[in-house]
Amino acid sequence: MGAQKIMSFNSISKNAKKVNSFLLSCLHGNPEEIYEAASYLIEHGGKRLRPFMVIKSCEILGGDIKQALPAAAAIEMVHNFTLIHDDIMDNDEMRHGVPTTHTKFGIPVGILAGDVLFSKAFETISHDSKMPKDVRLRLVSNLAKACSEVCEGQALDIMMAQSKKTPTEKQYIEMIEKKTSALFATACAMGAISANTKSKDVANLSSFGINLGVAFQIVDDLIGIIGDPKVTKKPVGNDLREGKKSLPILLAINKASGQKKKTILNAFGNSTISKKELENAVKIISSMGIENSVRKKALQYSNAAKKSLSSYKGSAKNELLSLLDFVVERSQ
Ligand code: IPE
Ligand code: IPE
Ligand code: MG
Ligand code: MG
Repeated sequence: MGAQKIMSFNSISKNAKKVNSFLLSCLHGNPEEIYEAASYLIEHGGKRLRPFMVIKSCEILGGDIKQALPAAAAIEMVHNFTLIHDDIMDNDEMRHGVPTTHTKFGIPVGILAGDVLFSKAFETISHDSKMPKDVRLRLVSNLAKACSEVCEGQALDIMMAQSKKTPTEKQYIEMIEKKTSALFATACAMGAISANTKSKDVANLSSFGINLGVAFQIVDDLIGIIGDPKVTKKPVGNDLREGKKSLPILLAINKASGQKKKTILNAFGNSTISKKELENAVKIISSMGIENSVRKKALQYSNAAKKSLSSYKGSAKNELLSLLDFVVERSQ
């Protein structure tokens, strides 16, 4: 790991510690089982990137970071809500190195665990009496809008996977802007709003979050195929099995020929494929040398994100910039 990446990862972990106890303290109630299911993935890992962005976006504007804690916890709750429901939609059995929430607790409790995380997120930001009412309203309105966008993006992801058509790169980017960037953008916007700042700052930081989110998802799609499950803590190849039209998969299908292309296409969208055949297809894609072009694409979005911060300075800015490097270069 390069020095820049280590610095970024250390400051993300330091920030995570501050958020974790507050976050988990919000997740109690009756029956305790759904709260146990709601806390389960959070307790087993996660990078806490979105809370980091909330806190640093507040800090870059000179805000009091304690004020941003409810928003930081709320965004992580919403994120985990999307992960739990996403694993049901994607038929995924492992995340954070443990069985997914619905695999462990069953689909009904999994759905409810997601729902309760969603509701608690809004409770956390709207009930914070230390925050002026208009700030709370802005936070709620921003987060609600992002949640609708995630649903729209997830619907597009599923519809694209079911469709026989190959999406254009533009359509793929539009889909990930909704399913993934929306939450990153809102994380930054909520940090800025918690600092009670001008709408120009909210717009700058949102734009940083959108572009970072696209870079993040492009790399996520890459390491979902060529990554090391020991590092990512989730299996590889599932996107291929589910017929997901991700950039790396589309590039690989385009580039392959002959028997190799046949093996990849036989795995693509084939829910009954054997583990061995899926592994073979993944091996072929890993040896095709698509990594450079995919990371280059992510770098373009990272550079666009960088521009949105040009009018700021200070240590929080540097931390957000090294987060960009981490996002493009990461293998976890
Ligand atoms: C995973 O996000 C879902 C995507 C948007 C690809 P993260 O990689 O940030 O999830 P954590 O770190 O496991 O919480
Ligand atoms: C990412 O979904 C977006 C959401 C969870 C809303 P993916 O399906 O691409 O991410 P992973 O690979 O399961 O984490
Ligand atoms: Mg998924
Ligand atoms: Mg998905």
